[in-house]
Amino acid sequence: MTVTTTGPVDEASAYTFDNADRQGPNQLQILADILDEHSTDMLLRAGITDGRRCLDVGPGRGTITAWMAGQVGPTGHVTALDLDPRHVTGGDNITIQQGDVRTIDLPTGSFDLIHTRLLLLHLAERDAVLDRLVAALKPGGVLVVSDWDATDRNMLVHAPSPQVADAFNAFQDGLLATLEANGADVGWARRAPLAMRTAGLVDVDTTVHNRLWAGGGAGNLLHVSNSYQLHDALLGRGMSVEQLELFREAMQDPQTLAYCYWMFTTIGRRPKQ
Ligand SMILES: C[S@@+](CC[C@H](N)C(=O)[O-])C[C@H]1O[C@@H](n2cnc3c(N)ncnc32)[C@H](O)[C@@H]1O
Repeated sequence: MTVTTTGPVDEASAYTFDNADRQGPNQLQILADILDEHSTDMLLRAGITDGRRCLDVGPGRGTITAWMAGQVGPTGHVTALDLDPRHVTGGDNITIQQGDVRTIDLPTGSFDLIHTRLLLLHLAERDAVLDRLVAALKPGGVLVVSDWDATDRNMLVHAPSPQVADAFNAFQDGLLATLEANGADVGWARRAPLAMRTAGLVDVDTTVHNRLWAGGGAGNLLHVSNSYQLHDALLGRGMSVEQLELFREAMQDPQTLAYCYWMFTTIGRRPKQ
C-alpha cells in the first residue's frame, strides 16, 4: 500500500539539466566517475548491508543504485526514483520509478536507507522534500545526502593563459546564475546538517570531499559537458562562442589544474522511537 507521507509541495523550481539531452548520459557518467568512490565509502559508513530496503532519489546514471542493489543482495531491495530514469539499469532487486520527489506518494516508515546525490541543491522546495524523505524512513533508518557547495570560487590552480582563467570564471558565473535562476541554492550543502537536524534526524555527521583534476580528467570534462548542455544559456549570460571554445579546449589540456566543487555528504538517522 502506498501512503502519502506529507502533502505534495508546491513546485517552484525547474531542474536545469535534461537527461534526454545528447549530453545527458555523458554528464551523468562523468558525475559517477568523479563521485562514486566517495559515495560508496559514505554508504558503507551509513551501514548499508544485506537485506536493507533502500531508496535512491535522483539516481541519474544509476551506478549507485546498482552498487546498492549488490550490497543489499537478493533479500534487500532498491527503488530508484527519478523524474527521468531512462539511464538507470534495472535488476531483480531494483524497482525503477519515474516520478517527482516533490509530489509523488512516498510510503511512510518504509526504508532502512535513503540516498540522494546532487538533487536537493537544485530544488527550491528542498526543506519540504527533506521532511518527506525523513517520513519515508523507518524508525532508525538512515538518510545520506550529498550535494556540491559552489560558493568557494577558488577552484582554478593553473590555467594555460590569462584568457583561459577569464573564460573559466565567466563559465562558472554563467552556470551558477543559470542554476540559481531555476531555484538552485549552491550554498545549501553546507547548511544541510542543520536542515537535517531541524527535520528531526539525530547523529548527524558531515564529511567534505574534493580532488584536484588535470585537464582531460573527469572533474574538468564535467565542465565541458555542462557547457554544451547550457550553451545557449551561457551565451545569454555574456560568454561568446570563441570564449566557450577556448574554455572547452583548456579543460582538456593536461596543463590545466582545477579543483572540482566541494562535496558535502551528510548522514543522519531517524530516531528509533
Ligand atoms: C545532477 S543529476 C544527479 C544524478 C546522480 N544522483 C549523480 O549524482 O550522479 C540529478 C538527477 O535528479 C533527477 N531529478 C531532478 N529533479 C527531480 C525531481 N523533482 N524528482 C526526482 N528526480 C529529479 C534528474 O532527472 C537527474 O537524474
